[in-house]
Amino acid sequence: MKLFKTLAAVSLILLAVPAFAAEGQRDAKDISYSFEGPFGHFDKGQLQRGYKVYKEVCSTCHSMHLLSFRNLADQGGPGFSEAQVKALAATFTVKDGPGDDGEMLDRPGLPSDRFPSPFANEQAARNANGGALPPDLSLITKARAGWTGTFNQLINGIGGPDYVYSVLTGYEEAPAEIAKEAPPGKHYNPYFANGPWIGMPPPLSDGQVTFDDGAPDKVDDMARDVSAFLAWTAEPKMEERKSMGFATVIYLAVLAVLLYFVKQKIWAKVEH
Ligand code: HEC
Repeated sequence: MKLFKTLAAVSLILLAVPAFAAEGQRDAKDISYSFEGPFGHFDKGQLQRGYKVYKEVCSTCHSMHLLSFRNLADQGGPGFSEAQVKALAATFTVKDGPGDDGEMLDRPGLPSDRFPSPFANEQAARNANGGALPPDLSLITKARAGWTGTFNQLINGIGGPDYVYSVLTGYEEAPAEIAKEAPPGKHYNPYFANGPWIGMPPPLSDGQVTFDDGAPDKVDDMARDVSAFLAWTAEPKMEERKSMGFATVIYLAVLAVLLYFVKQKIWAKVEH
């Protein structure tokens, strides 16, 4: 009975989760990524393409303050070499100082710098975006969830990358009955968590980024690649965590078998 009650409580909680989603927000599109599931791995080529989309498109508005350029060479990540990281860090401009004259100065990025914000401060960022603030993207795939069903989420995670993909590809013509209410400068996007009106203009268009490996560059492809990249930025140690988890489960299974035989042996002479 107690077990039954616990199960009932747990399933009620699980069923209640979608109710937290914003009213009228559309469920995220369920994308299948290489890193889902207990044995999933990041696809290095995809992370490198996603980085390129971030650099050429998103970084003109969004920072990633929790990530340093040198992380791009870390184990389990996009697999850039240290020389590549040095070169790509230098393509960003970083504020440093103040210098001897008391003024802040601009210099090219170094591998130890974090991904900077393109704006001097929050007001400047809002001012350039019609009042909306482009959030830092380091943790966006952990901060937002895409609802893809209880079982699916248990196996594949909370669906943060699916949410990002859905926002990037989810711009539509607003339904006639609310089109008149459109705030100036906002776009209709039913997947946006604080929607349906979003202050980000559709950032991607077909063919915008040319990939070095010749991979397809439709909006759909770029959205997949950049959302996978943002899954990595939010959890750069995911591969390590999964292989550690797997090793732990094997270890515990072997230990359980050994303990069983030890117990049989110790109690063998005790009469029932
Ligand atoms: C022209 C500037 C601009 C560009 C370029 C841009 N964004 Fe945005 N983005 C914004 C603004 C502004 C917001 C906040 C919108 C709001 O609050 O209404 C935003 C919001 C978002 C959100 C929703 C965050 C949330 O709160 O749920 C995501 C995800 C996002 N951007 C990802 C991206 C990605 C990925 C790219 C690159 C492909 C990109 N953006 C390019 C300006 C931009």
